[in-house]
Amino acid sequence: MTTPGPKAPGVSFSPQAPAPRFGVLGSGKGSNFRALAEAWKAGALRTEPAIVLSDMENAGILTLGGEFGIPARFIPPGPFRTKMPPEAEGEIVRLLQEARVDFVVLAGFMRVIKSPLLDAFPGRILNIHPSLLPDFRGLEAWRQALEAGVTEAGCTVHLVDSRVDTGKILGQSRVPVLPGDTAETLHARIQVAEHELYPRIVREFAQGLRNGS
Ligand code: GRF
Repeated sequence: MTTPGPKAPGVSFSPQAPAPRFGVLGSGKGSNFRALAEAWKAGALRTEPAIVLSDMENAGILTLGGEFGIPARFIPPGPFRTKMPPEAEGEIVRLLQEARVDFVVLAGFMRVIKSPLLDAFPGRILNIHPSLLPDFRGLEAWRQALEAGVTEAGCTVHLVDSRVDTGKILGQSRVPVLPGDTAETLHARIQVAEHELYPRIVREFAQGLRNGS
């Protein structure tokens, strides 16, 4: 089941205007970024990834950025584990603005977004979370679902706000929890759903920007 597509706030784009551009932030292997980049290469995204940034120097997502010909940069994340200091976020904002991005896509970015990044792109930062929000916020949501004994799990694309996994929901996909599932098999099934959902919602969000809605 999916919920209706998003309405994006902000500036207007005429139909002749260049496609909106987005920046990607990720900390891991980047399979969601790959799904987005493949949709873009296939001409199915109607919006263009302009830069990939990571807080992890050896993240697979940076290598993937290079493979797709998209500038990719490591941003030293500072001393904290779950957030970045304002100077590091400021550097991210600078690079995103230099790359002329219209919105930001989090693809497995493992830090909480704060000021100045949140303020630089209000209502324009998307995240994908591996649960049917509002259930199972936070880390390893698939494991939380398994331990709770639910029969259905899934993933959610939502706007990022100042709290964790609470922003406006833009779309969801559901998958069954099957007998004998482990955390790994359930996570793998959810990721397959993520790779279909995220490109679709990103495309719809960008279309909303173009329409000025
Ligand atoms: C995904 O499961 C996503 O839901 C969560 O982080 C994971 C990133 O995986 N936010 P990948 O790096 O895109 O493979």
